[in-house]
Amino acid sequence: MTLDTATVKADFPLLEREVNGHQIVYLDSAATSQKPRVVLDAMNEYYETINANVHRGAYTIADLATRRMEAARQKVATFVGAPSAAEVIFTRNATEAINLVSQTWGRANLHDGDVVVLTELEHHANIVPWQILASERDIELRWIPIDDQGRLVLDDIDRLFDGASLVAFSAMSNVLGTITPVRAIADAAHDADAIVLVDASQLVPHVPTDVEALGADFVAFTGHKMCGPTGIGVLWGRRELLEAMPPFMGGGEMILQVTKEGFTTNELPWKFEAGTPAIAETIGLGAAADCLTSLGMDAVREHEVSLTAYALRTLAENHGDKLRIFGPSEPASRGGVLSFEFADVHPHDVSQVLDQHGVCVRAGHHCAKPLMQVLGVNATSRASLYVYNDESDIDALSTALDGAADMFAF
Ligand code: ALA
Repeated sequence: MTLDTATVKADFPLLEREVNGHQIVYLDSAATSQKPRVVLDAMNEYYETINANVHRGAYTIADLATRRMEAARQKVATFVGAPSAAEVIFTRNATEAINLVSQTWGRANLHDGDVVVLTELEHHANIVPWQILASERDIELRWIPIDDQGRLVLDDIDRLFDGASLVAFSAMSNVLGTITPVRAIADAAHDADAIVLVDASQLVPHVPTDVEALGADFVAFTGHKMCGPTGIGVLWGRRELLEAMPPFMGGGEMILQVTKEGFTTNELPWKFEAGTPAIAETIGLGAAADCLTSLGMDAVREHEVSLTAYALRTLAENHGDKLRIFGPSEPASRGGVLSFEFADVHPHDVSQVLDQHGVCVRAGHHCAKPLMQVLGVNATSRASLYVYNDESDIDALSTALDGAADMFAF
């Protein structure tokens, strides 16, 4: 099955608009994806027909809302191969999912002298939560380095993992697109008796994902990068770990009993979902999982490998050594994330000129400042691809870069 991008594109209303006199060319899906009509309709339908709080009311629409939300949880569980929907915890985003682990499992299990291993590829969301814990306790942070193509260097992991309690790493870099060998790292971490957390924010939207096959203990990802709405993320965790962990936030829904003397926690997954959840967003995420399933995740991945290959080839041919693209040169070992430098033009200027051509790319440090230091840059421009992009979008990017070269006269 291959993607028919023209048909896919037609399902995303925002892609019909013009920006600065040009048809929009959206190349920032690593920041957030656009939303298909089925997701917008699912959320509207909830608000228009069954808007009520969940797990609380005994009346018809409250029951329907609860069923719809829990059906979405099952869709998400199925989408990522989770053995049980009870292991799928809804959070606001991947950042909150990782903080949930650091604040619950981390506080209960990481003590003075313990070691947490990260990588140089990490987003701030998988660095700062561990630095916060490390600032409170005497925790050592170790870093798996990268090579000059942005691939993890695993030669030294026996030493790095020796005595580690946790190995936390990204499955796909949001800056370089590097796809990391999750299973091999997880197996090595487990051999060293460490727990494994995978930040799969960039993987789940783009690559068929089976959390059990990844071999991780915790997997964090977010809805808004996989055609879903903002405000909804996911933590998948192994049941026995989630059951042993203390709760995250206290409040309604996460309890079974409260007295003046104390409380008992609810069952999974609600133990970690205090307060009224993001009901519409959860339903929207369920619709997004359905949408991607109907496209076929194998087809999504195949499309992105082929489009990434076209982009690497076309941009190199058209812009030569003016353009430096970071990350692995081999499309099959990366996602469709293309961070680049364009001559000595500041990435913010590049992005502004591209915007004048209707081309949306992100410029900056991409919430990965330690990686920027390793790359020896302050910022990059970043074009990132998804199911609705095709070769015409890459051609538009290339033409817009010509415009930038004209403007900055080189
Ligand atoms: N993490 C998102 C990005 O890379 C926001 O742009």
